[in-house]
Amino acid sequence: MRRDFVANVSHELRTPLTSIKGYTETLLGDPPPEPETARAFLKIVHKNAGHMANMVTDLLKLAKLESEVPAGPFSVVDARRPLEAAMEICSPLAAAKNIRFENLLAGENTPIIADKQQIVQVFQNILENAIRFSPSKGTITLAARPQGEFIVFSIADQGPGIPREHQERLFERFYRQDTVRSEANSGTGLGLAICKHIIRNHGGRIWVESVPGEGATFLFTTKAAPKDA
Ligand SMILES: Nc1ncnc2c1ncn2[C@@H]1O[C@H](COP(=O)(O)OP(=O)(O)OP(=O)(O)O)[C@@H](O)[C@H]1O
Ligand SMILES: [Mg+2]
Repeated sequence: MRRDFVANVSHELRTPLTSIKGYTETLLGDPPPEPETARAFLKIVHKNAGHMANMVTDLLKLAKLESEVPAGPFSVVDARRPLEAAMEICSPLAAAKNIRFENLLAGENTPIIADKQQIVQVFQNILENAIRFSPSKGTITLAARPQGEFIVFSIADQGPGIPREHQERLFERFYRQDTVRSEANSGTGLGLAICKHIIRNHGGRIWVESVPGEGATFLFTTKAAPKDA
C-alpha cells in the first residue's frame, strides 16, 4: 500500500513538473521567445504550479487525517451549520454556472456528533464536484434523513452520472474517471479520498448512487445526536 502510494504521488507530481521544466527551459532559451509566446508559456507554468500546490495541500490533509488516532474531538453540531458554510464557500463557483442549491435541510435542526470543520470539508468536496459536473442552470439538491442511530445526507446533481464500474473506485486516492477527464475537469483526484477518511473517522460510511445520464447522488452517514441534547 505504502509503496503504491509513493509511486502514485511521484507519478502525479512528475507530470506537471515535467511541463514546468520544459516551458522554463524554452523561456530561458537563446533566442528567447516572443513576449506573447512567453506570456502563454508562463500561464502554463503558473497553472501547473497551482495544480502541484493543490495536490500538496490535499496530501497534507490526508496525512493529518491518517495520523489522528483516535479521531476527534467530536461535539454535537447542527448539520445545517457546516452545510451552510460549505455552500457559502462554493457559491461563487455555483453562481458562475447559474447553479441553484435546493437545501431541504434548511428548516430543521439536524444534530449530529461530529467535528464541524471536517464536515464542512466533506460537504465542500462533494459540492465542488457536483458543481463541476452539473450542467449550467442545473439544480443541486441537499437532503438528510434519519436512519437508526445515523443521519444519511445526500447531495444530488444533474450531471452525466457515473458508470457502475467506477462508483466504488472514485473514493480511492488519485482516481479520476478518464472518460470525463478534460481541461475543465482536471482536479487532483484526492477530494473524495479525503471525504472517505473523514467519514470513516466519524464512524459513518460514504458512497455514490448513479444511473449514467441521470445525475449522481453522493451519500454519507454520521451519528445522530439526540434532538434535545
Ligand atoms: N458529481 C460527480 N459526477 C460525476 N463524476 C464525479 C462526480 N464527483 C466526482 N466524480 C468523479 O470522481 C473523480 C474523483 O473525484 P475527487 O473529488 O476525488 O477528485 P477530483 O475532483 O478529480 O480532484 P480534487 O477534488 O482533488 O480537485 C472525479 O475526477 C470524477 O471523475
Ligand atoms: Mg473533487
